[in-house]
Amino acid sequence: MAACGLDFGTSNTTLGAAAPDRTRLVSLEGDHTTLPSALFFDFAGDATVFGRAAVAAYAEGEDGRLMRSIKSVLGTDLIDADTTLNGRRIAFRAVIATFLGEVRRRGERAAQAPLDAVVHGRPVHFVDGDPAADAAAEAVLAEIARAVGFADVSFQYEPIAAALDYERRVDGEELALIADIGGGTSDFSIVRLGRERRGRAERGDDILANDGIRVGGTDFDRDLSIAAVMPHLGYGSPMKRAGLVAPRAPFLDLATWSKINFLYTAKALAELKRLHRDSARPDLIARLIGVVEQRRGHALAMEVERAKIALSGSPRTVLPLDFEDASEAAELAARDLVEATGSLAARIGGRIDACLAMAGLPAGRIDAVFLTGGSTLLPHVRAAITDPLPDARVVTGDTFGSVGQGLTLEAQRRYGTA
Ligand SMILES: Nc1ncnc2c1ncn2[C@@H]1O[C@H](COP(=O)(O)OP(=O)(O)OP(=O)(O)O)[C@@H](O)[C@H]1O
Ligand SMILES: [Mg+2]
Repeated sequence: MAACGLDFGTSNTTLGAAAPDRTRLVSLEGDHTTLPSALFFDFAGDATVFGRAAVAAYAEGEDGRLMRSIKSVLGTDLIDADTTLNGRRIAFRAVIATFLGEVRRRGERAAQAPLDAVVHGRPVHFVDGDPAADAAAEAVLAEIARAVGFADVSFQYEPIAAALDYERRVDGEELALIADIGGGTSDFSIVRLGRERRGRAERGDDILANDGIRVGGTDFDRDLSIAAVMPHLGYGSPMKRAGLVAPRAPFLDLATWSKINFLYTAKALAELKRLHRDSARPDLIARLIGVVEQRRGHALAMEVERAKIALSGSPRTVLPLDFEDASEAAELAARDLVEATGSLAARIGGRIDACLAMAGLPAGRIDAVFLTGGSTLLPHVRAAITDPLPDARVVTGDTFGSVGQGLTLEAQRRYGTA
């Protein structure tokens, strides 16, 4: 039986095959070990494409439907809902199964072995503060994994997986806080790591705290979009009736990766047309309608994400906004991003104290903080995590691969190798 580790991320997915003496993430798209968690249902060709190819097909204007952030549906009522694709109804869980089935097939092709057993990553909390809903989300993911052909399915927390990957570099013994800030969730573990401990079968005593919240990079995209882009489409604009402003809901949907497609229904469009009629700024609402009618919601979200990423490395960027009536541009400074998303970073940072309390440790006892996940590349997120731990060494590794590597190590330990 061959085993693998599978990190199904909100934004990116990796798969590692457990070989006897090493673990390796396999190429899932060309030479890339990451596969963006995206599907494009091509209506004309009646085909489904995945990853970068899905994003490219959408960007080229092919007739079809792009879906991203599908992991966000786990732990919400939507998992049992349907979405309509070219007149056909398909359940969200079937969309996730389509994606994970393809990941398994690509993994088998790359590993040249049937993959029967999987250690699936999972956030510490799919759902904040609701253990029953959280357990249900894991059960759904397990069902999907079995449905796509994995005979043996088990789970590991994503930050514990990252810890196992980091532990390969640890010589002595240390207490580490692992922070994995991804697209959908922020996850933390405090663990005791060391060369001597690595191979042990039972590591329960070394795990001093696990915690997480459902806040990740896609939330930063949403809040940046609301602050910097949506006002150009009528967000916060006055209605004809004095004292009223346009309702927030359609703008929030358009700014939220997993909800953009909700606007692409006849009912939603009819509501937007009513809004247009009652608005004191119909010129702006017309842009909102134009974006929805032209199915450009994801293109806008991609521009926002690109601007966020640009601002994590440079002081300013320009976000082009092309509407039918005018071409505008949002000129953004890094401080605009911090202003729009500072409360999210503060919520992430707030988990550090919670984790320390859970572990019963003062901050000074943490030797190292290991940062992984794409959103740790945001300076204010990084600061929110490291500021409460001034004495800890800050260590980074494979930002997009650590969790997958650690899950693969765990697969090797639990299931052996082919
Ligand atoms: N240079 C960068 N600066 C800021 N953010 C970045 C950068 N590169 C990627 N990101 C963000 O990182 C996020 C993706 O990170 P990652 O691939 O670790 O998430 P994931 O594992 O798919 O999600 P999760 O684990 O939460 O389900 C996205 O929101 C992306 O915009
Ligand atoms: Mg992740």
